[in-house]
Amino acid sequence: MKALILSGGSGTRLRPLTYSQQKQLIPVANKPVLFYALEDVIEAGAKEIGIILGPNKDQVIDTVKSRTWEARIEFIYQGEPKGLAHTILVAEKFLDDDFVMYLGDNILRDGIVRHEERFRSLKSDASVLLTKVEDPQRFGVADLNLDGSIRRLVEKPKVPPSNYALVGVYFFKPVIIDACKAISPSWRDELEITDAIQWLIEHGYRVDASFVEGWWKDTGKPEDILEANRLILDDLKMKNDGQVDDSKLMGRVIIEKGTKIERSVVKGPCIIGKDTMISNSYIGPFTSVGHGCQICGTEVEDSIIMDECSILNAGKIVESLIGRNVKIQEGVSKPKGHRIIVGDNSDISL
Ligand code: TTP
Repeated sequence: MKALILSGGSGTRLRPLTYSQQKQLIPVANKPVLFYALEDVIEAGAKEIGIILGPNKDQVIDTVKSRTWEARIEFIYQGEPKGLAHTILVAEKFLDDDFVMYLGDNILRDGIVRHEERFRSLKSDASVLLTKVEDPQRFGVADLNLDGSIRRLVEKPKVPPSNYALVGVYFFKPVIIDACKAISPSWRDELEITDAIQWLIEHGYRVDASFVEGWWKDTGKPEDILEANRLILDDLKMKNDGQVDDSKLMGRVIIEKGTKIERSVVKGPCIIGKDTMISNSYIGPFTSVGHGCQICGTEVEDSIIMDECSILNAGKIVESLIGRNVKIQEGVSKPKGHRIIVGDNSDISL
């Protein structure tokens, strides 16, 4: 089996972070979201992985190459995001075998091994991963036949045919390429994967479903990234490779190499990256602090702070997503007030 991981798209819902970084590279528990997908497809036996690239292609290539992987990786440039089915067309030459298509901004707690085995045993032409949701109106939803196969897929239905939403992982036989060639762009001018799957059903191919039981998260919006961070941190085991002086560590805390904690309280679950300095601070549950940061005289809870940030005497920070190399500090000049230099589409609560 091959794998196609999608790391293109423009990530408009994650601006301003995505002006400078591809959304699949945003760290969750200090690991790029994309790496979770790569680890899952390798665990499921993929030996050849195609990664779809979009606007920030060099960043994605450099990040993926910063680690070794037990698979051959081919980078495939899509350019402008023209839809999920369009990525299959640009990867046509690579997709000469059965493959799993995995949206690079999705995270599944339990991976995809069980689903890959089911796809192989059922010998269907496609298998889509589904999960039960309370609000199917917000998702692509499956209408199922009595034998569990898919009758129809509907995008954001007003009257949902079921509570089963599409998760961003699909297994396909190469016939999906014919389907992607046969369909036309939708109203939003994208080649939709749901239309291609519908084409398969209407042309007599069998499309099955595989049900996800552990949690699944699509990290398309800031609140989803924070939620994924909570879920992942909740599963991590404690480890201390740093130096802790005159401080209290409570619960499951991970401290990476070269990091110093002084006169602080760190309450897990949380992770503090390499070469970071924390002093006179409180780092609370569900927080990920990146590498090379400095946090002094500040309380942080339920947040992601990316690499190289400097946060000095900044009061209490909660439920925040802070990009790389950001400086936040107490103002000392008069008149007293908030001095703010931020990019377009930022979101600040004072
Ligand atoms: P989306 O989240 O639907 O699209 P997006 O990344 O452009 O985000 P936004 O809606 O905020 O602008 O995409 C789902 C996944 O598929 C995501 O990992 C990006 C990827 N993708 C591509 O690689 N190419 C594409 O043409 C599209 C539409 C998405």
